[in-house]
Amino acid sequence: MPESEQRPNTGTTPLTGEAAARAVNLHKQYGAGDTGVTALKSVNVEFVRNEFTAIMGPSGSGKSTLMHCMAGLDSATSGQAFIGDTDLSTLKDREMTNLRRDRLGFIFQSFNLVPTLTARENITLPTDIAGRKVDAAWFDSITDRLGLSQRLTHRPAELSGGQQQRVACARALVSRPEIIFGDEPTGNLDSNSSREVLNILRTAVDEDNQTVVIVTHDAKAASYADRVIFLADGEIVNELRDPEINTILDTMAGIERKN
Ligand SMILES: Nc1ncnc2c1ncn2[C@@H]1O[C@H](COP(=O)(O)OP(=O)(O)OP(=O)(O)O)[C@@H](O)[C@H]1O
Ligand SMILES: [Mg+2]
Repeated sequence: MPESEQRPNTGTTPLTGEAAARAVNLHKQYGAGDTGVTALKSVNVEFVRNEFTAIMGPSGSGKSTLMHCMAGLDSATSGQAFIGDTDLSTLKDREMTNLRRDRLGFIFQSFNLVPTLTARENITLPTDIAGRKVDAAWFDSITDRLGLSQRLTHRPAELSGGQQQRVACARALVSRPEIIFGDEPTGNLDSNSSREVLNILRTAVDEDNQTVVIVTHDAKAASYADRVIFLADGEIVNELRDPEINTILDTMAGIERKN
């Protein structure tokens, strides 16, 4: 099959690089009839390996839905989501669990920490479950940079919202996964912590060959990315490369005016 048929053009960046993840005609419908919501309308997008992508768009535009479908946390109504060459819709539950565990890191919009475990235990949980050894030097480096060194023996209820979010970031980073998905990973952080998280994500791409995709409402956070894609009403409506804060703000303002 010619490449153009396999990979429908999105009107966004020409599809040149190797995709770490991609969506093909990804469609997500919640409910039916009058109360039904089409959260994603046949979205086609590639997340190129070794790139940092930010997804922006108004509340309810489908950002979390796209991210959840791409990370195998939710299933699409139709269309396909690929991690590398793996079509997630073909995987059995167990295969999906293994793929998520071995290849993906996810920072959730709500942090999904285990309340009975300490910060340290939460951070190492996915690696422990996988039966792998935690890289102690990397663990120390991440938790130190995220300002968590003194909080590692505390449970989530004993941590501030921002500290819980940083624990969730450390958990996604500690195993150096192939792709890190973050849903507003800096949403609850002050500017110092936010900068630290974004720098770590940037380094993951620049030095560790990882791929990072985050959802954010913050133009400053998005400016750390190589590329910003904009969603509105379940569709990709714009894209910027090497984005600057002002251009991001202008683009968002244009999208909000139309809504
Ligand atoms: N489980 C669900 N059942 C029904 N509708 C849903 C469900 N989850 C999301 N939606 C709807 O799908 C649309 C997209 O939601 P989504 O969470 O992807 O938005 P978002 O862009 O992440 O918004 P925000 O910036 O507020 O987090 C919204 O209209 C939302 O109400
Ligand atoms: Mg969301």
